[in-house]
Parts: sequence; C-alpha cells; structure tokens
Amino acid sequence: MADLTGSIAVFGATSGIARAVALRLAGEGASLVLIGRDGAGLEALAALASLARDSSGAKDGGPGISCVTWDVLDFGGHAESFRALTAAHTMKGVFFAVGTQFPQDECEKDPAKARLTFDTNLTGPVVILDLFAAYFRGRGGGFISCISSVAGERGRGKVLTYAASKAGLTAYLAGLRHRLAGTGVFVQTLKPGFVRTRLTAGMESPLMAEPAPVARDIVRALAARREEVYIPGIWKWIMLIIRNIPAPIFRRMKL
Ligand SMILES: NC(=O)c1ccc[n+]([C@@H]2O[C@H](COP(=O)([O-])OP(=O)(O)OC[C@H]3O[C@@H](n4cnc5c(N)ncnc54)[C@H](OP(=O)(O)O)[C@@H]3O)[C@@H](O)[C@H]2O)c1
Repeated sequence: MADLTGSIAVFGATSGIARAVALRLAGEGASLVLIGRDGAGLEALAALASLARDSSGAKDGGPGISCVTWDVLDFGGHAESFRALTAAHTMKGVFFAVGTQFPQDECEKDPAKARLTFDTNLTGPVVILDLFAAYFRGRGGGFISCISSVAGERGRGKVLTYAASKAGLTAYLAGLRHRLAGTGVFVQTLKPGFVRTRLTAGMESPLMAEPAPVARDIVRALAARREEVYIPGIWKWIMLIIRNIPAPIFRRMKL
C-alpha cells in the first residue's frame, strides 16, 4: 500500500474504543479529523489529542487535530458531508467505530430499535465507507479500518439483532477488500470481544478488556496491515470453537 500523506478520519471518535485509538494515533504524531455527533465531546477529545500529538517527537507534518460533526443516520447528508470533509482535508485513512446495541427483547418489542441497530451498525457505515473507498481508489491508496465484532461470526439468540447487523458489516468489509484488491487501498476488519465501554455498561465477563490495550492492539494491527484481527487475540480461538459447535448442541446453549 502506498504510504500517503494526509489525515486519518476517526469516525465515532467519542466511543470508548475510538477515543483510546485517537489518543494513541495522536501520540504517534498523526493528524486526525475526529468525527461524531457530539460536538462538545469531540472538542474535548481534540484538546487531549492535540496535547498528545504536540508532545510526541514524531509529528507527521500535517495539519494536526480537527473535528467534524456528522451523524451516521443522516442519509440525505452523507454525500455533502463527505464532499465538505475532503474539500477541507486530504485523507489517507479512516478508522470507523460507530455502533449501537440494545437488549434483544427491546429490539423485539420496538421495531424502531431493531431498525436503528441496522442503520447505525450496517446501512450508515456501508454508505459512508463506500464514499471513502471511491476517494481512496481515486488517490491510488489509503486505508479503511472498521470495527465489526466477534458477535457477527455466528447468529445467537441473546444478541440476535446486533449479531446480524455485525455479520452484515463483516461480510461488507470482506467484499470491499475483494473489490479493492490491487487498487492500493487496504481494508481491515476488527473483531473485538468484550470491551469496557458505554456499549457494555452493566455487563460483566472475565474476558472484559480495557479500551487502552485494545487500542494498542488496533494501532499495531493497522501498522502491520493485518486484514482480519481478533482483539484480544484469544478470541480467534474462542470463535473457532463457537463456529464449530454442532447446531443441535449450540441451540441448547444460552448464548
Ligand atoms: N464494547 C464492546 O464490547 C465491543 C465489542 C465488539 C465490537 N464493538 C464495537 O466497537 C465500536 C465502538 O463501540 P464502543 O464499545 O467503543 O462503544 P461506545 O462507547 O458506546 O461507542 C459507540 C459510538 O457510536 C457512536 N454513534 C452511535 N450512533 C451514532 C450516530 N447515529 N452517528 C454518529 N455516531 C454514532 C456514539 O456516539 P456518541 O458518543 O455521540 O454517543 C459512540 O461514539 C462499535 O461499532 C461497537 O459495536 C464493541
């Protein structure tokens, strides 16, 4: 992949995981455009990221840290928001971390929540990442790194709607990687297990990871250009087992 100049767009920058990734990238001297729907939260993060970048010995010579408000559900506005973003900034990559999850019974009682899950986790990301893909293709390089989930690996009753949305996202990213092969554009699928963020508030698991080490693993995987990454790595083996449990046994498990 060509090593381009430009900023990295961090979509869903105020998320627990993306916030940690943004601070780590800034600490390595990267220029970032922090994108999300919470303007005040973005500005607060930008102040911290600027400090991290300023104190790094390795600034990329780029424009530094800035913010853009953008809601992934604003389908009518995506093309214009993207045009404005790329008119103001030269982009070399996008890290995409937007997502939402409701308890499964809420999705079943309220179809609006089921739809919101798909629009936030799948339809919105697909429309926006298609715009980035075309832009990077035109530039002859760039990267798309997107958080899906281990939940997308096998349909499960406990998280039916969320898992289905992430399965769609994982399939989209695999297809995009295939479609962009040979263009110089790198597409990465990140599959975290449990990470302690707002999304998992109230959940407990012995496998719960903290955002900072997850961000370290993500930034390393990006530097190494790994296409599909389980985070932490133990989830690769857990999901190998989960995927191979015979259906009659899987049905009896409360997962
Ligand atoms: N935590 C886990 O265990 C886990 C595991 C696997 C995958 N993931 C995935 O990791 C990603 C990051 O999640 P997280 O765990 O860091 O949770 P989080 O802190 O709840 O972050 C979710 C992010 O999505 C943003 N968002 C939601 N709806 C949006 C919209 N309509 N427009 C723009 N932004 C929107 C939120 O913005 P606001 O800040 O404005 O609310 C927030 O920044 C998600 O894709 C999630 O599915 C998480």
